[in-house]
Amino acid sequence: AQGFGRNQDLIDFKTVSLAEAQTDLASPSISDDYEYQVLIPWGTPIEPGIVREFDGDPNNRPTSAEAPLQVGIGHDGMWYFPLDDQGRGRGSSFRRNLFSSNEGMLCVNHEFGQTSTVLGKVVPESLDDVRIMQAVHGVSVVKIERAGNGRWDVAASKNARRITVNTPVAFSGPVAGSEQLDNENGNIPLGTVNNCGSGPTPWGTYLTCEENFNGYFGVQGSINGSDTVPQPETFSFRDALSVQGLDRYGFDNDGFNYYWHEFDGRFDLSDEEYANEHKRFGWIVEIDPMNARQVPTKRTAMGRFKHEAVAIGTSRRGRAVPFGTDGQVVAYMGDDERFDYCYRFVSDETSWQRAIAQGRNPLDFGKLFVAKFFEPAEGSLEGRGEWLEITRNDPLLAAAFKDDAEMLVFTRIAADILGATPMDRPEWTTIGARNGWPDGSVYWTLTNNSRRDGGTGFRPGVSPSGGQSFNLGAEGPNTEVDNPDGYILKTTDDGRGYTGKGFSWEVFILASSTRDTENVFTDPDAAYADPFGRLFIGTDGGQPNGINNQLVVFDTTKPDAEPQRLFTGVDGDEITGWATTPDYRTAFTNSQHPGNGDPSVTNFPAPRDNFTIPRDCTVVIRRKDGGVVGS
Ligand code: FEO
Ligand code: CA
Ligand code: CA
Ligand code: CA
Repeated sequence: AQGFGRNQDLIDFKTVSLAEAQTDLASPSISDDYEYQVLIPWGTPIEPGIVREFDGDPNNRPTSAEAPLQVGIGHDGMWYFPLDDQGRGRGSSFRRNLFSSNEGMLCVNHEFGQTSTVLGKVVPESLDDVRIMQAVHGVSVVKIERAGNGRWDVAASKNARRITVNTPVAFSGPVAGSEQLDNENGNIPLGTVNNCGSGPTPWGTYLTCEENFNGYFGVQGSINGSDTVPQPETFSFRDALSVQGLDRYGFDNDGFNYYWHEFDGRFDLSDEEYANEHKRFGWIVEIDPMNARQVPTKRTAMGRFKHEAVAIGTSRRGRAVPFGTDGQVVAYMGDDERFDYCYRFVSDETSWQRAIAQGRNPLDFGKLFVAKFFEPAEGSLEGRGEWLEITRNDPLLAAAFKDDAEMLVFTRIAADILGATPMDRPEWTTIGARNGWPDGSVYWTLTNNSRRDGGTGFRPGVSPSGGQSFNLGAEGPNTEVDNPDGYILKTTDDGRGYTGKGFSWEVFILASSTRDTENVFTDPDAAYADPFGRLFIGTDGGQPNGINNQLVVFDTTKPDAEPQRLFTGVDGDEITGWATTPDYRTAFTNSQHPGNGDPSVTNFPAPRDNFTIPRDCTVVIRRKDGGVVGS
């Protein structure tokens, strides 16, 4: 099976049956036509031999000196950047046939790990403990190779690196250099956190997305979750908009119980010296996998929200063209929170190749839009929508924000004011294609929404009216009033070139429609569409019918495509991220938080021993006959 998709079924693997998926929840299952291999579990040295390996032994946990040289935890978004046949990166993954499917740089996000899993205690007790936690977050860049025996492994590379919460970073775009990002003590910008999904650029860099950054901040003194300490918004050094912003982005006294704020002033919302530290997170960050000296750069023109992931489409003379072709780049981005929004960034540059050659980054100059979905006809699962531009040319936004920097720092508030459509937790986006050519479509995973209950919500503090009511019933494509299972949305911008103001939308599948069927799946999250028409979905949520989270594949060229189960993870994990080699014959995904860190649930990837801490890891997937993954 070649699997490239013309004149044959795109998918003909033997699926993992529901009965198989229900058996031995402590171990993964994979299609009989496929095999998998574990790669770079948490604690792997980023180059062979440079530091001790953490193997899951709870008596031998990573130290603050070791963790910054080891692969982190919470594997999520990822991409494979091929080297050429001389072992060099040429800075791009276009003209894919010239590049190696056996040797490349793998970038992997480390979204989060529980303190109890990493430290073996519920809360950090010292700055050293905090430094370990900060080092297991971030991004790994490692060189990987496929040996003659078919196994992938880590190899030495001068470009291997860890990017953590304490790595120097830079800002670019409209917010760079503004007072919004200044701190009184002048500390340089450091780090990235809660790196969820990702996306590659056509010029060969990696975009990592900062999602739930609010959870790492808190107010000193709240270590016991005390509600007697002041709320962060009561600190008088903040202006009214900043106070509103703290609320809109979900900051509170103790965050997600990481308690970094007890030992590291950067994360203490009551520390005036770091008054703007929290505004330095919530961005998309660009990393060059082929140059370890490059400073990771936050692209502020793409807005600040809980960035899940990013998919780049390319348009040439208004038509969609394949990834890697020169043209205008467009980014589709979800903000993963109940009732938050879908966004689009359109670069001003019409030739990314010319911009890069002349030293300009196409992601620094452009227009940011948020999606307004119009109501479908009664009972219909398709309709129309419009991209609303986030610009101070709009009188409401000009009144609300004194400059573009302030507007972009509070992107969510700007989108509220424009009346964007509240969605059921937008997670990943991916560029649709068939027969090797993009068709102008974009797929979005809307993972679920436990609060779309038919009532009326009120979002506090939304200017200019001081608040905004919104309907908690069906809205646009969010047609299920109680939506525990989620859905996959397909949009196509008018003109099929990613730049039209209007768009059409359709619900590709309601996950609830698969309940109690052989092909049951819910809570779609990670998404990748290959150029041939396959759509790969990783799930994150309690799957029904007693199975673990899973990787399913759709043939989007077929009407009423059904999810085909390729892989299931282990108890407690979620299936995150996706990468593929240029020949599409090796794919990479992740098992995130296997067993939720509990050795009594699973020891994966170690053999069953009820002792070893289960470790987040990458899973390499290949067809046994070497065919295209998904076929
Ligand atoms: Fe990090 Fe919304 O998943
Ligand atoms: Ca996710
Ligand atoms: Ca999720
Ligand atoms: Ca997750």
